[in-house]
Amino acid sequence: MEKLKYNRVLLKISGQALLGDLDYGIDPKVTNNISSQIKEVVELGVEVAVVIGGGNFWRGVSASANGMDRTTADYIGMLATIMNALGLQNALERIGIITRVQTAISMQEIAEPFIRRKAVRHLEKKRVVIFAGGTGNPYFTTDTAAALRALEIEAEIIFKATKVDGVYDKDPVKFKDARKFVKLTFLDVLKKNLRVLDSTATSLCMENNLPIVVFDITKPGNIKGVIMGKKIGTLVTKE
Ligand code: GTP
Repeated sequence: MEKLKYNRVLLKISGQALLGDLDYGIDPKVTNNISSQIKEVVELGVEVAVVIGGGNFWRGVSASANGMDRTTADYIGMLATIMNALGLQNALERIGIITRVQTAISMQEIAEPFIRRKAVRHLEKKRVVIFAGGTGNPYFTTDTAAALRALEIEAEIIFKATKVDGVYDKDPVKFKDARKFVKLTFLDVLKKNLRVLDSTATSLCMENNLPIVVFDITKPGNIKGVIMGKKIGTLVTKE
């Protein structure tokens, strides 16, 4: 039996990551890749919860910058995350992974409401639980929802999925000499204003000593690699 470094994790996927080759919406290549990576670790007995963003459909902050009130813009964003959750649920179920979607805003014809104890029970039964609708509150990002839900379900770590293989001192796409950090502290992230999770989410992780690993989800096998303790991406911890 392979030794697992983590047994219960929360995977944070941005809406942007679901775009893949598209300008808008959900690229099935992306959801299929993510689903098969999740399947690999669920089959090892890992309990996986997912928080998903909505930026592939709607960006609340830019909508509010363009004149919409922030609360309304954020509610539309929360609805976008529910669309993504259903898309990912479908991709997971097509490959035989049992899932439950729970929403922070009640929408019971479509999914279960968020009930912490039920979510934990689902995880214990090795169902993948997808948390949708952010925290249910405007002004809070899905990063903050990820930190909050991870704490509530007592996940050991947040897996922050990105398109690059960790956190760099500058944009590695634009700058050839960008340096990757293998390890960082929460304080480094806040002081250097590195975009790992937003500052509210980072503070929540720091106060509660919840580590974050930032890694490239586009590379098949990476979720399993991190679960098995391989040095992939950037690890953010208290010290
Ligand atoms: P157990 O308690 O372990 O049996 O969990 P379960 O999720 O299988 O039980 P339940 O009978 O609550 O759910 C059966 C199915 O109905 C699952 O697919 C749930 O996702 C779904 N379900 C449960 N509650 C709701 C709800 O409030 N709204 C919607 N739309 N679906 C629900």
